[in-house]
Amino acid sequence: MKITVERYCPKRVPNEPIKATYSITKKVTMLLEALSFIKEEIDPSLTFSSGCRSGVCGSCGVRVNGKEVLACEHTVKEGDLIQPQRSSSVIKDLVVDNSHIEETIKRSKSAFLTLSTKATQSPQEEKMIERQSDCILCNSCYSACPILEVDGEFLGPFALTRAFRYVSDSRNTTAKETIDAVQSKGVWDCTLCGECTLVCPQNIDPKMDIQNLRNRSVQAGYMDPNFGGGFGGDDMFGGFEP
Ligand code: SF4
Ligand code: SF4
Ligand code: FES
Repeated sequence: MKITVERYCPKRVPNEPIKATYSITKKVTMLLEALSFIKEEIDPSLTFSSGCRSGVCGSCGVRVNGKEVLACEHTVKEGDLIQPQRSSSVIKDLVVDNSHIEETIKRSKSAFLTLSTKATQSPQEEKMIERQSDCILCNSCYSACPILEVDGEFLGPFALTRAFRYVSDSRNTTAKETIDAVQSKGVWDCTLCGECTLVCPQNIDPKMDIQNLRNRSVQAGYMDPNFGGGFGGDDMFGGFEP
């Protein structure tokens, strides 16, 4: 079986990605096994990330034939083209700079849960945020999002899914701060195309979470700026005397 890997090295001259095709002569099933075979038997300089090898750590995200997958969960096939994730700068080969994960989570004010003194939760309340809590930060949705290709400041799907998870947590005391934080370059910048939902290995639905976050934003007093209302919130009726 032959597969092709898009390779990039910042030290190579000229500094452009190249496509390298490799013959996998060992019986392998998963893409991660094929990449490990190349590294161990053909070219030790091939660079990729992996950890758990079982779809848990989220570190092995790549694109195969243009679609985001986890290398440890993708069944490799003849002729597959393996590329790094999009919208993140490539460090080397299939490893991208994921520093935006921490940055966008902080910017969306959903890094930590601020608990009330009554920090309990019913099973029903827990169920409502169970799916979103399964995010493994694999970055697949971020790579698939077409908005991030043109606007690197967009918070992106996983940060907004996480924001929705925190806003919906009955124990959270700072939900309004999170709602405020996702107005600019956040919920209203999404086109609801659903690409993020299609690629999520955890069956999370960021598109639906963003829709729900929009509803929560409206309940908090914000309006869709695309309808000419501008941003609202606490200042929405600023200066208005009834
Ligand atoms: S639904 Fe929104 S966040 Fe998801 S990929 Fe489309 S534009 Fe990006
Ligand atoms: S929402 Fe899904 S695709 Fe996006 S980072 Fe989390 S697990 Fe990965
Ligand atoms: S190696 Fe951990 S998710 Fe693939």
